[in-house]
Amino acid sequence: MARLDFKAGTLLGPVPAVMVTVGDMEDSNVLTVAWCGILSTDPARAYISVRPGRHSHKYLTERGEFVINLTTEQLARATDYVGVFTGAKVDKFEKCNLTRVPSKCVSAPTIAESPLALECKVFQVMESGTHNVFMADIVSVSCDESLLDERGKICLDRAHLIAYSHGEYFSLGKKLGNFGFSAAKKKKRPRGK
Ligand SMILES: Cc1cc2nc3c(=O)[nH]c(=O)nc-3n(C[C@H](O)[C@H](O)[C@H](O)COP(=O)(O)O)c2cc1C
Repeated sequence: MARLDFKAGTLLGPVPAVMVTVGDMEDSNVLTVAWCGILSTDPARAYISVRPGRHSHKYLTERGEFVINLTTEQLARATDYVGVFTGAKVDKFEKCNLTRVPSKCVSAPTIAESPLALECKVFQVMESGTHNVFMADIVSVSCDESLLDERGKICLDRAHLIAYSHGEYFSLGKKLGNFGFSAAKKKKRPRGK
């Protein structure tokens, strides 16, 4: 198969498109972030990359806290909306019927309609070209109880999460296997069956 070369670009996909909340219960904002990821397992750390021109940027630098709210098929329209309009001009929570609830360890509110939220405290900010990278400790995680199975395990597959790829939103498709399934030994079938 022939391959073609393109100029350098941010063509990593799929990536999450999360709703990041900033501020506090009285004065808050929400924006969509796709340049977001995990930095390390222990300590649990995440990052978001945000352009300095965003209204949310000043909350991030002043407060050093944010919440990453995962997004679902049901939240797809809101996810796009809060990534198109600025909180400097419109109350995006009200417009999208997003409910602010207090977070456990940070001042920034959690979005009640999001199935899972990661509360983050910034430990370092790095300038990277067009964006500033906010690197943060994940200090608490909250989850809708409907995602828990009878043993208390979080089943994210129940959440109908969405992904973002090259300018388009997608719902996640069918499950292909568990972590490590390629190395798992096949169960032997009893003889005669
Ligand atoms: C799918 C999607 C992903 C986005 N990802 C980012 C991102 O990673 N970083 C960023 O600074 N802006 C990103 N944006 C743009 C901001 O969400 C957008 O400019 C928003 O209106 C900023 O809101 P604010 O001015 O209220 O902070 C994204 C927008 C969309 C729709």
